[in-house]
Amino acid sequence: MILKQTVGARLDVTGVTVRFSGVHVLEDVSFSAEPGTVHALIGPNGAGKSTLFNVLSGIYRPMVGSVMIDDREIIGLKPFQVARAGLGRAFQNGSMFGSLTVEENLLLGRHRLTRAGVISSGLGLPSARAEQRDARVKVRETAEFLEIDHLLARTSGDLSYGDAKRVDVARALCTEPRLLLLDEPGAGMHTREKLAMRSTISRIARELGTTILLVEHDMGLVMGISDRITVLDFGTVLITSSPDEVRNDARVIEAYLGHSTARKGIPKPRMNGKQ
Ligand SMILES: Nc1ncnc2c1ncn2[C@@H]1O[C@H](COP(=O)(O)OP(=O)(O)O)[C@@H](O)[C@H]1O
Ligand SMILES: [Mg+2]
Repeated sequence: MILKQTVGARLDVTGVTVRFSGVHVLEDVSFSAEPGTVHALIGPNGAGKSTLFNVLSGIYRPMVGSVMIDDREIIGLKPFQVARAGLGRAFQNGSMFGSLTVEENLLLGRHRLTRAGVISSGLGLPSARAEQRDARVKVRETAEFLEIDHLLARTSGDLSYGDAKRVDVARALCTEPRLLLLDEPGAGMHTREKLAMRSTISRIARELGTTILLVEHDMGLVMGISDRITVLDFGTVLITSSPDEVRNDARVIEAYLGHSTARKGIPKPRMNGKQ
């Protein structure tokens, strides 16, 4: 492995409350994710998972509550400031420019770390050229680590769904995050693609040391790779515990198999057995 290890961040979410038009979407949400672990955030549709991701990345500001990345309070910071504090994010539907190559998209992802601004880059100043060279090396190393280097020259818009999702994880990783948020990385994937994604997520945490916060509906994927799991239901935390305890928790089973099945269009997740 050539990629430099990161010092994974600790995440402390305390008392986060978000209300939209008077309705509590998150209510007094608290949990912590330990450095270098895979921490899953699960819950039925509408539980508030995406809203919490938007709070963590500085898009929504909660009414009350605290979000600490290590010793840094990030509530009140703008999304680019939260990114500089060490947070990276891959999106449910990807976030790449379809007309650019994969390499160009990864370089753009890297751009926030480069000191040389657009002007010095445009003037071709030596410092800017050196940074661009470093960025290319970093992009290639990241692509090799995630085994997508054969895709670097491809046009992003032509990628298969599974490849596009892996490239989006690579894009987030190119910013060298210490905390990586993954929103449904396995959604819409075939079994083989899911297995590849599963090993990718594990390797990012185990080999690079990055802390991963994972939202995912596939219970096999979640149970198989998570160190800890926080279950949200109707905006509140039901439990934060190990996969085994979560799987056997009566409140969790009720949330998934009880009242929640009455909510329209919610598939019943399989809660038994590791995948
Ligand atoms: N911008 C918004 N304005 C009003 N309500 C919202 C907004 N975003 C989400 N909600 C509501 O908040 C609840 C939680 O949504 P969300 O965070 O997307 O859940 P999840 O990602 O767990 O499916 C849902 O009832 C949703 O309708
Ligand atoms: Mg969501």
